[in-house]
Amino acid sequence: MNRLILKGARIVDPSQEIDSIGDILIEDGQIVKVAKEIMETAETIDLQGKILMPGLIDTHSHFREPGFEHKEDLESGSLAALRGGYTSVFVMANTDPIIDNPAGVRYIKDRAREIDLVRIFPVAALSKGMAGKELTEFGALKKEGVVALSDDGVPVENPQFLRLALMYSEYFDLPVILHEEDKRFSGKGVMHEGELSMRLGLRGIPAVAEETMVLRDLLLQKNYGGIVHFAHISSRGSLRAIAEAKKAGQRVSCEVTPHHLLLTEEVVKELNYSTDTKMNPPLRTREDMEALGEGLINGEIDFVATDHAPHHPDEKDVEYDFAPFGIIGLETAIPLIWDRFVKPERMTVSRFVEVFSMRPANLFNLDGLGTLKENTVADITVIDPDRFKVVNPDAFASKARNTPFRGFGLTGWPVMTIVGGKIKWQDM
Ligand code: DOR
Ligand code: ZN
Repeated sequence: MNRLILKGARIVDPSQEIDSIGDILIEDGQIVKVAKEIMETAETIDLQGKILMPGLIDTHSHFREPGFEHKEDLESGSLAALRGGYTSVFVMANTDPIIDNPAGVRYIKDRAREIDLVRIFPVAALSKGMAGKELTEFGALKKEGVVALSDDGVPVENPQFLRLALMYSEYFDLPVILHEEDKRFSGKGVMHEGELSMRLGLRGIPAVAEETMVLRDLLLQKNYGGIVHFAHISSRGSLRAIAEAKKAGQRVSCEVTPHHLLLTEEVVKELNYSTDTKMNPPLRTREDMEALGEGLINGEIDFVATDHAPHHPDEKDVEYDFAPFGIIGLETAIPLIWDRFVKPERMTVSRFVEVFSMRPANLFNLDGLGTLKENTVADITVIDPDRFKVVNPDAFASKARNTPFRGFGLTGWPVMTIVGGKIKWQDM
């Protein structure tokens, strides 16, 4: 039997309302005991001064395989996840070919099994070829193991199509993840539309491009049902509308990225038009950023997701207008939120675990994840709340370097990632 004891960490598990110092015994990949002190003979790791929590889950990453392996692949993405403290990652379907059928899903799952690093949950496309015309085979995809459907990267333009998709979502009990953007507003825009975009001479993407679609789709969900999750919301208006719908009992949820929580449109200027500030949706105003932070703390926003969007340095090293949208996030999300929210006590450690693990697990029905309950699988993240490091993308496990957080000094970093009882990465 394979046994491991993790000793003396502060164990935080909101699913059992645990926040105390103790030990954990892992046997054959399962958590078998959580207690104040475990006196048994087994390999023991001393975690005094560290914080131990259920494994973190990112519901929004782009690992680019198949088709764009020069940006990232399932292995490099998984390594980036482990270093970021993540034990599970959802991978989006906008690859080449697009993952819009069971064979594509099987490919991702088989590769993930071979790589054997983090748990990879494929998100399949909502429409064939992500063209917004023909539904994918919800039932067959669910049977193959997809956790959600999404055309992320592009919006669902046709409301009649989305209406059908929502009716199927309801029937198959399968969440739909929506990337909200009305292309007629965003057009050729590259940053938030406002006074700053005008002064910088860059075309803008107004907040209403997102808000009008959020409002439309809340209305569709209200009338036709389905399970709706709004990806990467960026504006106060989107948040207000979603919060109201949630309060009224609609089956909707939303996520926010670390960059929308910590940066504003101003960095486009501050970083001198660096294309590492270009992503979709764009960074918005201080008012938006602050509203999103409040929403994350008070529960109106369900959780944090990275929208890890790797691009090759050569693709980003062009004029602002021509660079692809997206930045990487897996290796910085935890220290960013720890340093800016947990350390200054804007957010409790328990809420941190909720938004990085428990809530995504519950929302997407990931059985046995997001918790440290006895007899569940031992997916565990350990954070050192005192570790200080400067973000250095050149040392990332990701193939990509496109982050606006280079040089940020942050306190609170993951130091150990355990998946299925196995230590897959550590830096102790
Ligand atoms: O910035 C983004 N990059 N937003 C998206 O929606 C897609 C993503 C990508 O795939 O690069
Ligand atoms: Zn998106």
